[in-house]
Formats: sequence, structure tokens, C-alpha cells
Amino acid sequence: MKGKFYITTPIYYPSDKLHIGHSYTTVVCDAVARYKRMQGFDVFYLTGTDEHGQKIESKAKEAGVSPKEYVDHIVESIKELWELMGISYDRFIRTTDDYHVASVQKIFKALYDKGEIYKGHYQGHYCKPCESFWTDSQLADGNCPDCGRPVEQAKEEAYFFRLSNYTDRILQLYRDHPDFLQPQSRVNEMVNNFLKPGLEDLCVSRTSFSWGVPVTFDPGHVVYVWVDALSNYITALGYGNDRFHDFDKYWPADVHMMAKEIIRFHSIIWPALLMALDLPLPKKVYGHGWLLFDGDKMSKSKGNVVDPIVLCKRYGVDALRYFLLREVPFGQDGSFTNEALISRINSDLANDLGNLVSRSVAMAEKYFPKGLPADRLLQPVDDSLISMATALRPFVEEQCDNLQIPTAIGEIFKFISRTNKYIDETAPWVLAKNEADRPRLATVLYNLLESIRIAAVLLTPFMPHTSPKIFAQIGAGEDATTWESAGTFGLLSPTAKVEKGEALFPRIDVEKELAELETLSAKPSKVEAPVPAKKEDKKPEGVASLIDIGDFAKVELRVAKVAACEPVEKSDKLLKLQLEDGTGTRQVVSGIRQWYTPEDLIGKKLVLVANLKPAKLRGVESQGMILAADHGDTARVIFVDSDLPTGSKIR
Ligand code: MSP
Repeated sequence: MKGKFYITTPIYYPSDKLHIGHSYTTVVCDAVARYKRMQGFDVFYLTGTDEHGQKIESKAKEAGVSPKEYVDHIVESIKELWELMGISYDRFIRTTDDYHVASVQKIFKALYDKGEIYKGHYQGHYCKPCESFWTDSQLADGNCPDCGRPVEQAKEEAYFFRLSNYTDRILQLYRDHPDFLQPQSRVNEMVNNFLKPGLEDLCVSRTSFSWGVPVTFDPGHVVYVWVDALSNYITALGYGNDRFHDFDKYWPADVHMMAKEIIRFHSIIWPALLMALDLPLPKKVYGHGWLLFDGDKMSKSKGNVVDPIVLCKRYGVDALRYFLLREVPFGQDGSFTNEALISRINSDLANDLGNLVSRSVAMAEKYFPKGLPADRLLQPVDDSLISMATALRPFVEEQCDNLQIPTAIGEIFKFISRTNKYIDETAPWVLAKNEADRPRLATVLYNLLESIRIAAVLLTPFMPHTSPKIFAQIGAGEDATTWESAGTFGLLSPTAKVEKGEALFPRIDVEKELAELETLSAKPSKVEAPVPAKKEDKKPEGVASLIDIGDFAKVELRVAKVAACEPVEKSDKLLKLQLEDGTGTRQVVSGIRQWYTPEDLIGKKLVLVANLKPAKLRGVESQGMILAADHGDTARVIFVDSDLPTGSKIR
């Protein structure tokens, strides 16, 4: 073993179903964890869920279930997502786990006993109906930002952590350990915005809600959710509990990874708490950028098109992992668009990598069905390929050690392009015509397979499902797939048996795919968190969640008559319908062109969702949607009796 390596993601709020912005942190950490494991480190990769707090308490109340019942449901879906995405975490901590709760209580008490926490008063603007304190800057036009009602000045007993004592020590930490907080721009942010003005003591208990870790020595107080949450990084190792015994082995953390908006908690409050507890500090806190959607931090309202489950199912897990790891320069913000994702899949994965593997394997199989002969005939043109291959591993290591994964992957793909070029330079199909060129042909094919092997080994941490498929196709045995093996050219058995497999990444028809995605995004979002049913309500089999009559009443359904209909230009999925709805005519776009011609629909009556917000599908305005039923792979429009007057309300 080369030593230990402890890496963490933030623990996720189980209040909303996760979108691909969330999976970004987890996939990056997973790639680093896999890379370190392959290098021979004893890796511990921690993730989990942050389950306490007022927000969860109120969401559970709305759903009519207990907070624990509310989160249990969502935590399961988060675990399923990580499984789908191949996240190789070693432990999953829930802040509602008994051992964590008990450890946080001990930590809080220890800080109190040391005088690091004291009792005082929290003063601020209070919204009675919401039971919430707000600061000046949080108020919306002087009112409660949640409900808009007036607030009043209020004072509440609370415990405070002496954070103000730590300003100089944190500044010193940044000076002594320039690598502690990265990228460098985050250091400037923390210093200028928080440290230079001087830190203030931090309110670390609440009495306005109860869904939290109770303060043992003062009933009515619960521990501030960030103190509870940050402690997970040590309680999960067994600090303050007997459940685990990994603290001495793995602490301090080698990397705490997160997006930039929670850097302050990790680079100021967390080290100060650890200093107060006399514990060693993490070696690195890294605040990466955001994945933006239409220039915004991802939002669940974008629905299906940012749902990682939907994307994994459409394109495969490794394609999505590849995109997340490659597209955004690490540390900066980057945009997610379906176009960019599809274009990466087509150009890098299907064209460059996929074609290289399928062409090389097909030629080896065709020209040497019994395996490559052992004779070799090297030529000067091979040198540049071989030297680039052997220089690749050290470069990738340097980049990964600096968490610059996009650069590491970029270099592997440069090498893949170089290898594709080598095929053109050596033209194996010409060599194959002449018996005297057989040794040279075998050498060229061997060099190709060997280059593919090295690229696939180095891609393993990033695309863990794809590399084994490549190894199977080129006949690479176990010894030739270790991290170490990527440093040597010539490890593939000279007589390796190649075997053509399925295309690694089928090419996507961009036009068709974008149209399908648009139809999909017009459907209601699946990114909403699943809301558990109330205890007393038994869900019928096959039903996702129960709603009450009030929810249903929000949907206005009306009988509408198709007055005209035509295909949407440049789309083979969409039809544009003009519908008479009893008040006038409106245009609705529907993704049913595969199953209906305009003639099938004109004159018919169907069900219109009349109060859906307008949307644009392939640039064409749609004011509502029509109802259809899924039938196998097809959709069938719900037609209604022609006697029913247009505009009739459906209830
Ligand atoms: N519960 C806190 C963390 C406590 S850690 C002691 C939290 N949870 S979160 O669910 O809101 O976010 C989890 C991680 O996902 C954070 O690193 C967050 O910044 C990251 N992201 C959420 N949306 C994101 C993007 N759109 N892009 C990149 N990362 C994003 O914060």
C-alpha cells in the first residue's frame, strides 16, 4: 500500500431529488477515489445525506409524514442513483444515524465544557407564522422572504461558538498551507469577504424547530445543522462513537470536495471547530464551480433533461460520467446543454474512441484470425506513437494529483487521436495486400492494440464500465490492465486473441434526439422528490405517489376539437395542432407524429390540459398539451365522444 487517502463529498440534502449538478461532485470524487485505488492507495471515500433542519421538517409536515419517514424515502433514491452511476463510496453516512447523533452531542458538549460554546441571545427579525429568524440582508422588502408577511424584532436564547477567536488562526492556516484551500480564487474570496472584516461568533443552536440533534444539557435546543453536518466527516470514521474504528487510520481527510457556495463552511467554520477540538485539519478543501443550465445554477424545474437517471438510461453511465469529467475546466463554472453532451458522445466517444477500437479489432480479426504472430518489424513512424504512449501515465498522474481531471482526460484523447492518425499513416489495408508485409502488418496492429490498452487502463477511473469492455475486445489479461501496466509499451501478450464486441458508443442522431428531449422536457418534471404517502393512506399497486383532490383540481381539463393539424418542420416527432377549446383556437404541439397523421386527428375531439404554462417545442409555441396513453412503445391519443360540446370541463 502506498498510504491512505480519505476523500469526501458534501452530504446531500434529501429534500429534492438530485439533478446532474449534484452528481458532478460525486462523480469527480469517484474518479479520484478510483484513480488512487488503482495506484495502490488505501482509499476511503465517504458520502451521505444531511437530514436535519427546518426545511425538511416543514416539507415532511406538508406531506403529512414524520421527518424521518420523509427522508427515508429520498435517501433510498439517492443511494440507487449512486449505484446506477457507479459511485464506489466506502461508507454512506446519514445524519439521522444513531451513532452520528450521539457523536455530535458529545462534540457539542465537549466544546461547551471547553468554553468554546457559550449561551447568549440570538436577535433578529422574526416571522411568527414561519417560526424563522432572518437577517437584514435576507429580508424581502423588509418582509419575510418565505411568506411575505411583516416580521418583528425578536430575541431567542441560543448557544454561540467563539468563531471570532479564530480569524487570525485561519488566516495563518491559509498562509502556512497554500494548498489547503483551492482553487486560489476561493482563498481571496474568504479573506476579503469574511476574514479581513473579522469573524463573528456563530449561533450554533436553535429552539424554533425540533428536527435536529438535541443539545443534551439544554432541552429545547437543537444543534445548528451545519455543525451537525460538518461533523459527519469525523463521526463516520468513529470519532465519538464505537460504531467505527477508522479515525486514527484515515483522519485527517486528504480532500473535502464541494461546489463553491459551501466553501465558507468548510474552509472557515470547519477548521475552526477542529481547532477548538484540538484535532488535525484536513489537508485540502476544494471548491469546484457550478454546472450551469441556461446560465443558471441547475434547477429542478428543468425537469427530465437534467435528471441523471434519464440521461444515464438514454446514453449510458460512462457517457454521462465522461461528459461531467471532461467538459468543465475543473474549478470553473461550466454549462450543461443536451447539445454539448450529445456532441461529446458523438465526436469523442463514438468517433474517436469507439471507431479506434472497432477498426483496430476488426482488422486484427480479419487479417490474423488465429492471433497476431510474434514477429515484429518496427519502423521510425512507430517511435512517436510509442513515446507518446509511455509519456501518458506520468502526465495523467500529475494532472489527477492536482485534481485536474479534464486535462488528464483531454491528454488521453489526444493520444487516441494520435493513434487514429497512425492508422492513416500506416494504412494496414495496403499492407494486407502483400504477403511480404505480414510482419509489418502484425507490428502495426499490435501497436494499435497496445495503444488502445494503455488508453483504456488510464480511462478506467473515469469510465469504469467501458474499459473492461475494451480489455475483453483486445484480449488484455489482468496483468495488462493494472495502473502500473500503463507505463510500459509492449505488455499485451504478442499473441493476444482479439474478439470484436458491440459498438462501445453508438452514434446518436442529433436532430432526432434533440426533438425527443424537447418532448420529454415538456412532460412534467420527474426531478421532483418522491413524496412518501401518509401512513394511513395505502397506495394502490403501481402508483408513484398519492395526491389529494385539491392537487387534481389544479389541472384544468377540457374537451377540444382538432380544427387543423400539420407536422412541425424539421422534426419527425412533433405535430402542430390547432384546437378549438370553447373559447377560441389555440395551438398545441404534441410528440405523436410517429403514430398519427394529421388526417387521423382533424375533426376529432380529445382532452386538452388547458392551464399548462406555454412552452416552446423546437421553437414552436405550445399552449397546453393533449392527453395520450402509453401503449407499449407507442402512444394513443385519448379521444372523446363527438357529442360532447367543445370546451366541456372534464372532472
Ligand atoms: N447539505 C449541504 C452540504 C453539507 S456538507 C457538510 C449541501 N447539500 S446539497 O445537496 O445542497 O449540495 C450537495 C453538493 O452538490 C454541494 O457541493 C453543492 O454545491 C453541489 N451542487 C448542487 N448543485 C450544483 C450544480 N449545479 N453544479 C455543481 N455542483 C452543485 O450543500
